[in-house]
Amino acid sequence: MSIVISGANGKLGSLIIEQLLQKVSADQIIACVRHPERATSFLNQGIEVRHCDYDQPESLDQAFAGASKLLLISSSNPDDTVRLRQHAHVIESAKKAQVEHLLYTSFAFLGDGLISPSHLHLATEHSILTTGIPYTFLRNALYTDFIEVIGLKTAIANGELIIYPGDWKFNTVTRHDLALGIAAVLSEPDGHRNKTYELTAPHPWSFDELAIIMSESAGKHISIRQDPQIQNWIYGYLNKIDTSSTSDDLERLIGGPITTLKDSVLPFIKM
Ligand SMILES: NC(=O)c1ccc[n+]([C@@H]2O[C@H](COP(=O)([O-])OP(=O)(O)OC[C@H]3O[C@@H](n4cnc5c(N)ncnc54)[C@H](OP(=O)(O)O)[C@@H]3O)[C@@H](O)[C@H]2O)c1
Repeated sequence: MSIVISGANGKLGSLIIEQLLQKVSADQIIACVRHPERATSFLNQGIEVRHCDYDQPESLDQAFAGASKLLLISSSNPDDTVRLRQHAHVIESAKKAQVEHLLYTSFAFLGDGLISPSHLHLATEHSILTTGIPYTFLRNALYTDFIEVIGLKTAIANGELIIYPGDWKFNTVTRHDLALGIAAVLSEPDGHRNKTYELTAPHPWSFDELAIIMSESAGKHISIRQDPQIQNWIYGYLNKIDTSSTSDDLERLIGGPITTLKDSVLPFIKM
C-alpha cells in the first residue's frame, strides 16, 4: 500500500505524517512537496519524497504513480480561482495515475454552498465525484488557531475581551486532532470509501468559556464585552461559515475525546 500525501511540508500534512508513522511503516508513505529541499526530515525517517506542485501537472503525474491512497490537502493559495485550478490538476492526475482512493481535506458543514467560502470545497468535491474514484471527504472544522487573531493578549492585559456582537458558538478543533483522525482513515482498510466526515468538535464552545479559561490562566477576571464597532476581519469570515454545527465523526475516528478547550487555547494565551 502506498499512501501519498500532498502538501506534506505544511502544518497539517506534517502532523498527519507524524501520526501515520505510528500506524504504518515509513516505506508505505510518500510525501509530496513543492520544495523537496525542505523535506529532509521525511527522508531521514525513511519516507520517500516526491516533487509535487499543483501548478505543474507534469510533476503530479509522476508524484501520484502507484498510489493506493492519495490525500489532497487543499491548496493554501489565497485566490480561490487559482486553488480551483490547482485542485483540478491534482484530480486529473489522480485519474490518469489510476489512484485507488482519493481523499480530500474539505471544510465542515458546507451547507447549500451559497456563501463564498463553500464554493471552492463543494466544487472540488464535485470534481472528485465526476472521476468515479472512490473518495473520502474529510471536512475539517475551522482550526482553533483562529483565536490567535481576536486579541487574547490585549484582553488579558485590559481585563476584557472585546468581540463582535452575536451568540457565537464554535465547533473548532486543533490540527493535531484532525491529524489523528485523518491518519486513522488513511491507515485503515477500505471501510472509509465514499464517506463524508464532518471533523468538528462534538460540542460547541463559547466566548464565555474561553473567558473563564483566560481568567484562570491570567489569575484575574477577564470579562466579555460586545462592541459592534470592533474592527477585525475575522468576524466577517466567521459570519460566512457554519461555526456551530457539530458531529461525533472526529471522536469516532480518533477512538476517544478530542483535546479539551483549555489545552487547545493555553498555547495562545501564555504570556
Ligand atoms: N480549517 C481551517 O481552519 C483552515 C485554515 C487555514 C487553511 N486551511 C486549509 O487547510 C490546508 C492545510 O492547512 P495547513 O495548516 O497545513 O496549511 P499550510 O501549513 O499553509 O500548508 C499548506 C501546504 O500546501 C502546500 N501548497 C501550497 N501551494 C501549493 C502548490 N502550488 N503545490 C503544492 N503544494 C502547495 C504548501 O506547500 P509549501 O510547504 O511549499 O508552502 C503547504 O505545504 C491549507 O492549505 C488550507 O487550504 C484550513
